[in-house]
Amino acid sequence: MTNKRSLMGYVSKWIFSLLWVVMGRINPKIAKTFLFWSLSDNAFVGDAYKDSILQVQALGMSFANPIGLAAGFDRSVKYVDILLNSGFSFGEIGTFTVQPDHSMEDPTFLFDKQAIATSSGGYPNAGLQRTVPALMARRHLPHLVGVSVTSAIQADRSKKNDTLSMDTLEQDIVKAVQMVAPCCNYVVLNLSHPALPISDLLLVPTTLEPILKAAKIQIGKSALVSPPKLLIKVPCDPKLDAKALSRSFIDSGVDGVIVAGAASSRLELARLHIPTEAGLVSGRPLADTALELLQRFYQASEGRLTLIASGGIFTAQDVLDRLKAGASLVQIYTALLYEGPSIVSKINRDLAMLLRREGYQSVAQCIGASVKREQQGGFNA
Ligand SMILES: Cc1cc2nc3c(=O)[nH]c(=O)nc-3n(C[C@H](O)[C@H](O)[C@H](O)COP(=O)(O)O)c2cc1C
Repeated sequence: MTNKRSLMGYVSKWIFSLLWVVMGRINPKIAKTFLFWSLSDNAFVGDAYKDSILQVQALGMSFANPIGLAAGFDRSVKYVDILLNSGFSFGEIGTFTVQPDHSMEDPTFLFDKQAIATSSGGYPNAGLQRTVPALMARRHLPHLVGVSVTSAIQADRSKKNDTLSMDTLEQDIVKAVQMVAPCCNYVVLNLSHPALPISDLLLVPTTLEPILKAAKIQIGKSALVSPPKLLIKVPCDPKLDAKALSRSFIDSGVDGVIVAGAASSRLELARLHIPTEAGLVSGRPLADTALELLQRFYQASEGRLTLIASGGIFTAQDVLDRLKAGASLVQIYTALLYEGPSIVSKINRDLAMLLRREGYQSVAQCIGASVKREQQGGFNA
């Protein structure tokens, strides 16, 4: 079986490379369809690379390595466990909403094989009523998973923000948390869709805190033996006030932050020559801003929040840079789409080599290393 999987993993890697060479500026939807097809046979994903230097303790759990599958890839609970066999140490399912979200996510474009632009009004999904049975059915599996939720309640952006009742929003989010809490190791409140009015509203600490506290209380009420951790995902927006938000998150009992989701700045899109109507951008263009934002959250939270890096991570060096900037774990999406599942083992193998080359004996030793060094320099100066 292992030999067959190694061989098929190798074959899938070459099919992916060939796809890009032959098809050039292919729409990532085709790549995703191919990826899903290849995932339908477990053999195609190849074997996971294992190495004790990659182990990470975070959020009270033990991760085999720091690489996780980002949210958005699997909103049907069909692929996450197959991908977890290919070397990811954890996966995030969703984003889900209590009510079905029938918004469209098309079209998505390819930009130099390193970015995806998505025109999307929400997170299309079947709603939690239909999804929770599938989440419950996979609960016995040993894989570590997070479930990402948000509210599908919309407000008319042309009107004032107060057209959206905060009570209704709170009830909707708390309901989502209640429904997914028994099915996962962590729940993410996803505020990373900058085009959704709720993100605009909720990224203001005073509006956010009551909702976070209510979500945390709801998790406590679930009376589970191992209640899930509570995380927040923020957008890749350099204007975020990391200090104020970190304070709010800590005061509300949040355990961790995912820094960061897609970017939406029209300026950023224009700078990258991406049509502004595309809305959101993921992949390489996010890397610098996401790294800088991560450093700010690490400094502001002083070790009291577990940070998960996302945005433009393609190589082991990218992972190492995020760990040094304060992340305990990282997530990838765009790279998986363009490189195929074999990228996970490649990054893990290269990361183990980089860690050893730099004299680290564990991932824990390098978390925040570049920020701590900078701070020391500051004190000495
Ligand atoms: C097509 C697409 C769909 C996505 N859907 C979600 C989603 O449902 N929930 C979420 O939190 N993030 C979603 N994301 C954002 C990714 O999880 C990730 O944070 C972002 O793409 C940056 O990482 P990357 O540069 O590795 O792609 C989506 C991204 C893309 C490209």
